[in-house]
Amino acid sequence: MASRRKKVYEGKAKILYEGTEPGTLIQYFKDDATAFNAQKKAVIEGKGVLNNRLSEFFMTGLGAIGVPTHFIRRINMREQLIRQVEIIPLEVIVRNFAAGSISKRLGIEEGTALPRPIVEYSYKDDALGDPMVSEEYVIAFGWASQQDLDDIVSLALRVNDFLSGVFYGVGIKLVDFKIEIGRIWDGDFMRLVVADEISPDSCRLWDVKSGQKLDKDVFRRDLGNLTDAYTEVARRLGVLQASPAPITKPTLIN
Ligand SMILES: Nc1ncnc2c1ncn2[C@@H]1O[C@H](COP(=O)(O)OP(=O)(O)OP(=O)(O)O)[C@@H](O)[C@H]1O
Ligand SMILES: [Mg+2]
Repeated sequence: MASRRKKVYEGKAKILYEGTEPGTLIQYFKDDATAFNAQKKAVIEGKGVLNNRLSEFFMTGLGAIGVPTHFIRRINMREQLIRQVEIIPLEVIVRNFAAGSISKRLGIEEGTALPRPIVEYSYKDDALGDPMVSEEYVIAFGWASQQDLDDIVSLALRVNDFLSGVFYGVGIKLVDFKIEIGRIWDGDFMRLVVADEISPDSCRLWDVKSGQKLDKDVFRRDLGNLTDAYTEVARRLGVLQASPAPITKPTLIN
């Protein structure tokens, strides 16, 4: 089936096919995992299925509270129909606690609460290793206007509030995450929507009690089985049904 469709783009984690209607795409979630700008690679069985379901869950939830997203509907285990957008070439990162590059750059211990959520940008360019850029750069190089950036920050913070709350409700701390934002044109009118994916590939998630990592750092830092970690996230969120009841002998009721 996939072979008859026109492939639009193949990335590291997903494939985009032409959608069923104009202005739509089909996003296929692969099992491939990459880290450190694709220097580390592996195929992790089941990851694509989990990320497809989890991204559907978050995008649907965002839609329900009025945050616009590219999501239309899930098609099957690995595919979802999305609105085609013009991707703004930025990774929009929101941090609640220090981890990863901010800890390295500023010497802040991982897990330290930040004084407030911090929004930062990386320029999406694999060859350059997605370098961090300032608002000045974003505006000067024309990737987004000041007005766009104001809207992007407010979208990012709404996504942060929503995700932080949803995760905290199931005992998970949202340390940080990245989103991509796209433009949808309606004649001359443009609106910004949350695009790409929201999944444990794009978030840092720590168990509130134990601090156990439940995100792609499990793969980056060789901390165990990634599928187990993502399955745990999905299970807590009620996204996957618990494993089917064991088959038992029928019980006679008298
Ligand atoms: N709604 C959308 N419309 C158009 N493009 C999209 C949409 N949502 C996501 N994309 C783009 O589709 C691609 C998804 O593939 P994947 O995440 O595997 O790419 P990648 O290897 O991470 O590369 P990139 O550096 O471009 O993100 C990304 O380039 C992403 O920006
Ligand atoms: Mg990507």
